[in-house]
Amino acid sequence: MTLTKKELHIAVLPGDGIGPEVMDQAVKVLQGISDSFGHTFHFETCLIGVDAIEKTGHPLPAATIERCKAADAVLMGSIGDPQYKKYADKFRPEDGMLGLRKELKLFANLRPIKAYERLHHLSPLKNKRIKGVDLMIIRELTGGIYFGDHGRKENDSFAYDICSYYQEEIERVAHLAFKEARKRRNKVSLVDKANILESSRLWRETVTNIHKASYQDVELDYLYVDNAAMQLITNPIRFDVLLTSNIFGDILSDEGSVIAGSLGLLPSASIGETYCLFEPVHGSYPESAGKDIANPMGAILSTAMLLEYFDMHAEAKSVYDAVDYCMVKSILTNDLEPDVDYTCSQLGDVIQALVAEEEGINLKGLKESNSSII
Ligand code: IPM
Ligand code: MN
Repeated sequence: MTLTKKELHIAVLPGDGIGPEVMDQAVKVLQGISDSFGHTFHFETCLIGVDAIEKTGHPLPAATIERCKAADAVLMGSIGDPQYKKYADKFRPEDGMLGLRKELKLFANLRPIKAYERLHHLSPLKNKRIKGVDLMIIRELTGGIYFGDHGRKENDSFAYDICSYYQEEIERVAHLAFKEARKRRNKVSLVDKANILESSRLWRETVTNIHKASYQDVELDYLYVDNAAMQLITNPIRFDVLLTSNIFGDILSDEGSVIAGSLGLLPSASIGETYCLFEPVHGSYPESAGKDIANPMGAILSTAMLLEYFDMHAEAKSVYDAVDYCMVKSILTNDLEPDVDYTCSQLGDVIQALVAEEEGINLKGLKESNSSII
């Protein structure tokens, strides 16, 4: 097999809470990949969130933006700590994340949700409903109500948040969604509130026009967000690519996490024209920070999305295979498997060892006794 050797500069932003621990595992896994496939990955750690506020006075220091722009990709842990409310008057740690999305123009957020058979029992949903679910939420990430005008008037007794979209903002994420659907099961569901909101009506018009002009081979349907919220848990199998606005995507992706059984499992990719960022969907979970009990799967699966983005499909597959192997063999953290109880760093070691197998990963042939860690 001839492989092109790649060299990538990756900015690592561990952030707050369990962010640093899960990022350590993600980096280990990428090192395992570079060992077995002969690539060179350079990692540079940068500050963001509470950590950055404490050290520099700002949640998104200029040096971090600069390094992220200079890198090929960004890997991020998580941001936020409720203890740090004292900074809220000036800025919140979360402003670091929103600022970075805007600075890097990461207009599309891809959040895949998969039901792992081995973990069906963890979902509060009936197994027959989640069996075989494999969907992708594509959330617009730099527009809408998150970035519209916010404010107070009339002695603070009136508050407003404006939701607005330009046609071009909808077009670019819609193109991405149709192209993604072609790699999957060829279906896009547009989720909006077009019966009420003018911005949603622009979404419908725009997506319909793009579909007609360029993607008639892809099936397109439309759902109001209230109905979509219900169908996501009553009939999730109906979804392939779910395309939606910033705030609806935020809400639906947390809802969708119950399908997978744990928020700790979900990865994401945020993509723009020039830059890309990969991060687990979960938050900073400060109560568990430093205890080595966090689930690193979301962060590790985010590295697989990074590898896919750079067309390293065999490499990504070896990460997915290693994760599947851990599922099947119950090599899991406490949140998924109370009886087994692997630590966050042990799980990182196992997956690093699996992906670093010299011949590439060969799960069928791999016996438990072959690995000193397992
Ligand atoms: C997410 C988070 C963020 C969001 C917060 C932390 C700003 O909930 O990535 O889903 O609302 O986008
Ligand atoms: Mn969210």
